[in-house]
Amino acid sequence: MKVLFVCLGNICRSPLAQGVLDAWIVENNKIHVFTDSAGTSNYHIGKKPDTRTIQNAMNHGLSLPYFARQIEKNDFCHFDYILVMDDSNLKDVLDNKPANSTAVITKLRDFDPIDTGADVDDPYFGGEEGFEMVFQTIKRAVHAFADNKL
Ligand code: 4NP
Repeated sequence: MKVLFVCLGNICRSPLAQGVLDAWIVENNKIHVFTDSAGTSNYHIGKKPDTRTIQNAMNHGLSLPYFARQIEKNDFCHFDYILVMDDSNLKDVLDNKPANSTAVITKLRDFDPIDTGADVDDPYFGGEEGFEMVFQTIKRAVHAFADNKL
């Protein structure tokens, strides 16, 4: 099973979702699950996650040893799930979906038991509290997805 998380920059939300799922995989011994994350934009290619995201993840015992990349056509055939953070990501991903795509493409919070189907709001232009809110939301939704589907 292969899961790709997608946001705009691939430096705040999607690498955090990847880190949360990677920790879940270790805890649950589901070593057949492969994870990755990507951005719809090319803004931060090759960069580490945002320092505020790294700090917040560290506060919760997670490291995020990932580098940003942009989603590419191959991803649509390679991954079983492409989980996006908000409606804007969903539109961008669906607009670029090739005809031979085999992935299930949906919002991460479609799996969230609270406020199902809502956006994971972009924390980039806000304060620290936004990053903690994003962490709590992503953790809850990723765990619900993983417990149900992986
Ligand atoms: P992300 O957050 O999509 O969660 O990685 C953002 C990061 C960078 C920008 C926007 C959102 N930006 O405009 O540079």
